[in-house]
Amino acid sequence: MSAHNPPMENLLNLDEIEDVATRNVSKKAWAYYYSASDDKISKRLNSEAFRSIQLRPRTFIDCTECNLNTELLSNKVSIPIYVSPAAMARLGHPAGEAGIAEACRSFGAMQIISNNASMTPEQIVANAAPDQVFGWQLYVQDDRSKSERMLARINKLSAIKFVALTLDSPVTGKREDDERSGNILNTMVESSSTEAVYQVVDENDYSRPTKPTDDQTFTGLDPTLAWKETLSWLERHTALPVVLKGVQTHEDAYIASSYAPQVKGIILSNHGGRSLDTAPPAVHTLLEIRKYCPEVFDKLDVWVDGGIKRGTDVVKAICLGARGVGIGRAALWGLGAGGVEGVKRTLQSMELLCFRGILSLLMTRFSPHG
Ligand code: LAC
Repeated sequence: MSAHNPPMENLLNLDEIEDVATRNVSKKAWAYYYSASDDKISKRLNSEAFRSIQLRPRTFIDCTECNLNTELLSNKVSIPIYVSPAAMARLGHPAGEAGIAEACRSFGAMQIISNNASMTPEQIVANAAPDQVFGWQLYVQDDRSKSERMLARINKLSAIKFVALTLDSPVTGKREDDERSGNILNTMVESSSTEAVYQVVDENDYSRPTKPTDDQTFTGLDPTLAWKETLSWLERHTALPVVLKGVQTHEDAYIASSYAPQVKGIILSNHGGRSLDTAPPAVHTLLEIRKYCPEVFDKLDVWVDGGIKRGTDVVKAICLGARGVGIGRAALWGLGAGGVEGVKRTLQSMELLCFRGILSLLMTRFSPHG
């Protein structure tokens, strides 16, 4: 067993998994996954904000009946932790997004498939368990027909239960780690006048593109998105519920709730700090919603992502009103560290027994749903 491939059970937390992945994956893949916008202030704050919140543990609470089962958009899942849409999983390991799906299957966890996945949605859900839950991330293309063709494919996949419309990255942030390593986006996107195709590359060989995955592109994002127009357009192309990803203020959370029931959820996210640096961490927006418009929690599922590394981070988010908590980079680092087993280890380390106890205890006492 080489130093770069230790048994996964030896890795005790997400930082250790990231360290192994950092040594395993190519420099360019590392830079793409690790990078964030400008000075990475939002990326750093994402973790720090959770850590700065202290718990108030209560005593004498029977924790024998602890389980993490919950519902996300009324779909049953076994843990409140889901995998966020993070692009190009095959850069981390050839198992790619289908490997993440395999790991999620064994934990009963939900996965949101990236618009820029390195495998097709059909490949990713091919071995799904009957009750496995997926969402699909949509970046609306300025050539709407491309998005419409993708939606038509998504509508045929029964494992996909909702569309996560992404609003937190209208333009790609200035990611200097990525730029320094040659910027993988530039080497992977072939932009021609009519068709900009997103190319998947084989592991560690960026010069050897494999087949493009049809309509998924990094370029050509539609800059005209607007509440009414975009949601009615979407309603014409899918009957699936919509989750708005990238809500960053309580004002927008409130507006989103007025679009229920088409909009069934919001994800408080600053895109892992990869887009607009100094945008707020999700937990700050969560606190804003609690203060200014708590009725949003009754109308919509509120999920959060960004910087989650410990079970206690998950506990805090749930106690403050979130139903689901997403991990993005962490799943990719899991893949890079040990393929499917690495992702399983990532999910398992979030699900440790002590976390179950704390979660149950705190949910009993503090959860607004409790
Ligand atoms: C990114 C896009 C693809 O953050 O979501 O790289």
